[in-house]
Amino acid sequence: MKETLIQQEQNLAVESFSTANSFEQTSKIIDFPRQVAGLTIVDIGAGASTCVAELREKGANALAVDYRYYNPKKLKRSVDRKLADVPAILNERVNEARTNLGAFFTEDLEISGQQQFVRLSRKLRDRFFYNLGLGRGQYIAALAGFLPIRSNSVDFVYSTQALSTFLLKEAEVFQSAMDETFRILKTGGEIQIQPWISNLFHWSNEERGNAQAFLQHLENSSISYQIEQLPGLRGPRLKIVKN
Ligand SMILES: C[S@@+](CC[C@H](N)C(=O)[O-])C[C@H]1O[C@@H](n2cnc3c(N)ncnc32)[C@H](O)[C@@H]1O
Repeated sequence: MKETLIQQEQNLAVESFSTANSFEQTSKIIDFPRQVAGLTIVDIGAGASTCVAELREKGANALAVDYRYYNPKKLKRSVDRKLADVPAILNERVNEARTNLGAFFTEDLEISGQQQFVRLSRKLRDRFFYNLGLGRGQYIAALAGFLPIRSNSVDFVYSTQALSTFLLKEAEVFQSAMDETFRILKTGGEIQIQPWISNLFHWSNEERGNAQAFLQHLENSSISYQIEQLPGLRGPRLKIVKN
């Protein structure tokens, strides 16, 4: 059973892509606690983001988890491949958003500009690999469903463009990753996942069904959650508190 889940999750992970974000960019997506100093924070599917390094500079005990940390060369290749595709991907997203929600939603992508986006991502990627080289143990090579992190030890978990983007394709894999997240979280701790299913961009019927089943599972277990709309092309975000 466990072997199958590992295999299933690995299959989804290898089909994923990697990106690079900063704390500033991530703050527009994730509602971080006002004071992060002293908190244990885990970024699941962190990719080549500098967010965890920046959280540590603010005094947090922040940890980044990513399957591609097993092979940093593959991580770099994955980011570079993604960046090479950016103009086509952004055009596709902008068109899709226009069709679904109207032109004003495309504003932030058009203002930031593709070249600027690629330049920033490259800078973040290079900073990430510099930080990784310092090797302070905050970069954990693991699958989201099998975290080498103690139970009840984490205050805040977040995941941007990772857990929902890749794992919702298989209900069991997503559920197992969420169970793991709950396991490491302290009572009163919080999870934030972005993007959650919406009519923005394409989500398969299967992913929509799996997302709905997961929310139903939370309701059946009397676990409270909120789905919050974010501006522009970012939204929505799922927030869950472990009670
Ligand atoms: C699109 S990137 C997102 C990176 C970062 N969170 C951001 O917003 O820029 C997705 C990352 O999730 C990682 N990933 C995908 N599936 C995973 C899994 N099952 N367990 C751990 N990491 C996974 C990939 O290796 C990739 O680096």
